[in-house]
Amino acid sequence: MKPQIQVEPPGPKALAVLQRDAEVISQSMVREYPLVLQRASGVNLWDVDGNRYLDFTAGIAVMNAGWNHPKVVFAVQEQAKYLSHGAFLDFASEVPVRLAEELVRLLPEGLDRVYFSNSGAESVEAAMKLARHHTKRKYFISFYGGFHGRTYGALSLTAAKVVQRRYFGPFLPVVHVPYPSPYRPPGGDAATCDIDVLTYLEDEVFASDVAPDEVAAVFVEPVLGEEGYVVPPPGFLKRLRTLCDDYGILMVADEVQSGCYRTGRFLASEHAGVTPDIVCLAKAIGGGMPLGVTISSDEIMTWPPGSHASTFGGNNVACAAGLAVLEILSGDGFADGVAERGAYLLKGLSELQERHSIIGDVRGMGLMCAIELVRDRETKEPARRERETILRHAFESGIALLPAGQSAIRFSPPLTIEREDIDTGLAVLDQVMKRF
Ligand SMILES: Cc1ncc(COP(=O)(O)O)c(C=O)c1O
Repeated sequence: MKPQIQVEPPGPKALAVLQRDAEVISQSMVREYPLVLQRASGVNLWDVDGNRYLDFTAGIAVMNAGWNHPKVVFAVQEQAKYLSHGAFLDFASEVPVRLAEELVRLLPEGLDRVYFSNSGAESVEAAMKLARHHTKRKYFISFYGGFHGRTYGALSLTAAKVVQRRYFGPFLPVVHVPYPSPYRPPGGDAATCDIDVLTYLEDEVFASDVAPDEVAAVFVEPVLGEEGYVVPPPGFLKRLRTLCDDYGILMVADEVQSGCYRTGRFLASEHAGVTPDIVCLAKAIGGGMPLGVTISSDEIMTWPPGSHASTFGGNNVACAAGLAVLEILSGDGFADGVAERGAYLLKGLSELQERHSIIGDVRGMGLMCAIELVRDRETKEPARRERETILRHAFESGIALLPAGQSAIRFSPPLTIEREDIDTGLAVLDQVMKRF
């Protein structure tokens, strides 16, 4: 459905809510433009003034099955009639067990034990504790530009924007290394940036910063999310897997944003033919309900009763939603459709790049795509203010998009998006970018 802007946003009802929001809500979130949601369905959002937007955000890669998918809504409503909070840490119930069985069936072999929590940060937190508990080692490695959440453990791994860390330290012992970004290669060479990063880790970090036998785990996003959907060179994850094996370090894939078929496979790391030791999921798996999942092998998840738990973990309504989400996303041909429409979106973005010099880079995997805006293609100076303007104008034209990193715009629509919606979004962007 095409966007329909009847009242210039923010309209009067939106403004009234925003005013009240400013009075009582913590203003620690960043909102790129004043969209006040009232309802959503499929790939469409409606604001409180009746404007309809075409959504390329999926609420930060959450609504992979589409907003308010009838199967998910039905599952939530039905389950709520019987049991929502099931006191899973004291009593067993069948719905979370069924979801865990389904996850194990869909995940690569060897990932066969599941811990449920309520968010991405919690799933990462659990992975950190599990890695320490299993290895009896203290340190962690993660990547600059990585975002893993905002609780203390997850925030210690996070090194994306300094505002997220400023005045919150001290943190857990984490050593950050550069992410192999082909557009901005840490060693200067896109072709070898993955090797350069891992050489730096072995030759510099392990020689002068932390001994590898003190490192419990490396946390890696198979596609760097909040930093702008950076896709590493194809060999990177395999090389990292080998390095981890060489030193007995656990490899944790944070697939909170890239998982649940976002990239055309259940896990983005599957594209690299790699099985991580621990996988973190959240966002899309709950279909809009708060649900975090940490998965590992039986051999790793041996922490004893009482060592880790959460009151709401394994919530029956969230798990029922998760089962409905998996039924939709793992259906026949669904993943192939994501890959096909992802390639279509990427091609459309590359065509936009040919017409607009402000687009320095186009990248992505499946329906996890981004453009990076630059003032000059030679210097690659980030076009931050221009991005703000573009996002604002797109919003005013009925297209919801989100920023990522310093000057990227990400495209993470519901995975149910059709080609004609992609065409609509690209046509609006084309118009909006003509002013630069
Ligand atoms: C890769 C990744 N890990 C962890 C998180 C944290 O998830 P949550 O906000 O649910 O705590 C995010 C959130 O954007 C994420 O993108």
